[in-house]
Amino acid sequence: MSAPGAGPARRILPQLGGIAYGGDYNPEQWTEATWAEDIRLMAEARVNLVTVGVFSWARLQPAPGALTAGWLDRVLDLLAGAGIWVDLATATASPPAWLVAAHPEMLPVTADGTRLGFGSRQHYCPSAPAYRAAAADLAQRMARRYGDHPAVAMWHIGNEYGEQVPACYCEHSAAAFRRWLRARYGELDRLNDAWGGAVWSQDYTSWDQIEPPRAAPTFRNPAHQLDYARFSSDELLACFTAEREVLAAHSPGKPVTTNFTGLFRAVDQFRWTRREGGTGLDVVSVDNYPDPADAEAYLTSAMACDLTRSVGGGRPWLLMEQAPGAVNWRAVNVPKAPGQYRALSLQAVARGADAVLSFQWRAAATGAEKFHSGMVPHAGTDSRVWREVVSLGMELDRLGSVAGHLVPAAAALLLDWENWWALELDSHPTSCLRLTELLSELYRPLLQTGVNADFAHPESDLSGYRLILVPALYLVSDAAADNVRRFVAAGGTALITFFSGIVDPRDRVRLGGYPAPWRDLLGLRVEELVPLRHGAAIRLDGPGAAPPDAAGRLWQDVIDLRGATPLLSYGEGHLDGEAAVTRHEHGAGTAYYLGTLPDRSTLGRLVGQACQRAGIALWTGLPPGVEAVRRGGYLFLISHLDHAVELDLGAKRPDLLSGVRVGPRAQLAPRDVLVLDWAEPGRP
Ligand code: GLA
Repeated sequence: MSAPGAGPARRILPQLGGIAYGGDYNPEQWTEATWAEDIRLMAEARVNLVTVGVFSWARLQPAPGALTAGWLDRVLDLLAGAGIWVDLATATASPPAWLVAAHPEMLPVTADGTRLGFGSRQHYCPSAPAYRAAAADLAQRMARRYGDHPAVAMWHIGNEYGEQVPACYCEHSAAAFRRWLRARYGELDRLNDAWGGAVWSQDYTSWDQIEPPRAAPTFRNPAHQLDYARFSSDELLACFTAEREVLAAHSPGKPVTTNFTGLFRAVDQFRWTRREGGTGLDVVSVDNYPDPADAEAYLTSAMACDLTRSVGGGRPWLLMEQAPGAVNWRAVNVPKAPGQYRALSLQAVARGADAVLSFQWRAAATGAEKFHSGMVPHAGTDSRVWREVVSLGMELDRLGSVAGHLVPAAAALLLDWENWWALELDSHPTSCLRLTELLSELYRPLLQTGVNADFAHPESDLSGYRLILVPALYLVSDAAADNVRRFVAAGGTALITFFSGIVDPRDRVRLGGYPAPWRDLLGLRVEELVPLRHGAAIRLDGPGAAPPDAAGRLWQDVIDLRGATPLLSYGEGHLDGEAAVTRHEHGAGTAYYLGTLPDRSTLGRLVGQACQRAGIALWTGLPPGVEAVRRGGYLFLISHLDHAVELDLGAKRPDLLSGVRVGPRAQLAPRDVLVLDWAEPGRP
């Protein structure tokens, strides 16, 4: 658990003072006359941090060898002159045509054997030696030339690793995979055993026989696929690490980041931030694009914020990208509603961000992203978007004292990418189970009652939390299983869902009744896994069931009670009267088990009960769609509603945004935000 307080010392970039503001800046798409206007407008919006050069490779190095970067020199000088800091890219995200033409084998290949072409971006195989060498060379030239430039505050490596090409299946990848497997297993017999080679005649007799899990007649070996997901994430990390080492040698001391994309499956973010051997990110950053057309956009967005904070160990982080209005890449691209850019930006600050950046500064006039919004829209400055951009800049200025403060969290959702990969493989009881959906279901009641939550790796130190929520932790290592048991025995509260504790890290079933490692902890044994048909629901009975239509969906475990107390039972079908949700005391703590996914209000009651059992205070009566988030000594109240609401604050409090004291009853206009000094006594 991160402790509140400890403010300024934790700032991501001390030279920036308060909360940084800005966006991706792509000056190479514009004339120098426009640059001058950009600088003037950036000052007007109080922009003080921009990301430059992410996709500039071809303009920086139009041929092998020296940089032709005079234009970037002038841009950086202009920015330095205006007091605007730069997150400078190593520019390796989109290899230029000359490199691809010289090394067509660096283009990535899909599982069905299609080689992807040049003409968009991220068109490289992460294991291709030609890409690795050219990227390291460019990173070195950039570091040498700009490492000491007065505008450069930090380095930005790559861009959204894996987002367009989560895995490559070419011959370079095959060779790298074999090396990776040799390092993991040492002996071929161990690999055959781990992959269940006895099934379907899949034993290997030589390492050279092993290929990536390419398209095959039917279900591919799941352990093979799982290892490929591990390998692919590691290969992307290796690309990042190689550039990071170049920067450490040629631009020492400058913080380094790459932009994650929230709950994105291909990249195990915990491995990227674990600081083994000096590698890893100095500053964690995220690109966050909730869909404005989704009424619960704020929820997915809040989860991305909490995840980013969590993978960075609780330290302040950077919102690297968001859209000021619409994006261009959905089927229908609805712009943010008036006030939504502000509300979601301040949500990020509430949840630990020390910087609020957008993609991109100026909406493009050409190219694939010309209908993606920018801080300076096509319409120019006489526009709602620009007025909101300027007004947010002024407001962020008033939140300087919030920077560096931590977000205390007493609850954590356990998340392990290896589990995610294994859980969503094919040939399972259901293909309708999606981890992100389950995470959202468990996260929603926490958000609705003002409970801050982290995401924690199941093997990490959980002792700072009072409550852990464990959604479908299908794959669990012995260390993680023990960790959860110890957490409860020591007095913690755990809420564990169906399809948890099923296999070990080799994707091998733990036998004897599910969930084998936690039967004693939960006081039960699951005898049979029963998924429910898509759209089907099963009635739930019991005192905790929310009337009138309490129901479970997705799943229906057959539970054999071994000491647990049933809280809810199935109310129909052949399991009528059997336990569906249980509670069990274990050591000094309590473990809840969900054998089904209850409807939202029943689940809300259960999560509320678990919070109370854990001694976590709930903010009851918070209207759905309004967040209450503590950061340091501040309370952020954020409405995502399009109508006004009234809240009871218990006392008058100073609001940092308006500068006036509000309360004890406070009005929140549609999508309005209050940032209250909560250090004062009198919390309700
Ligand atoms: C991603 C990329 C950006 C931009 C945005 C558009 O986040 O990193 O370069 O393409 O998407 O939403």
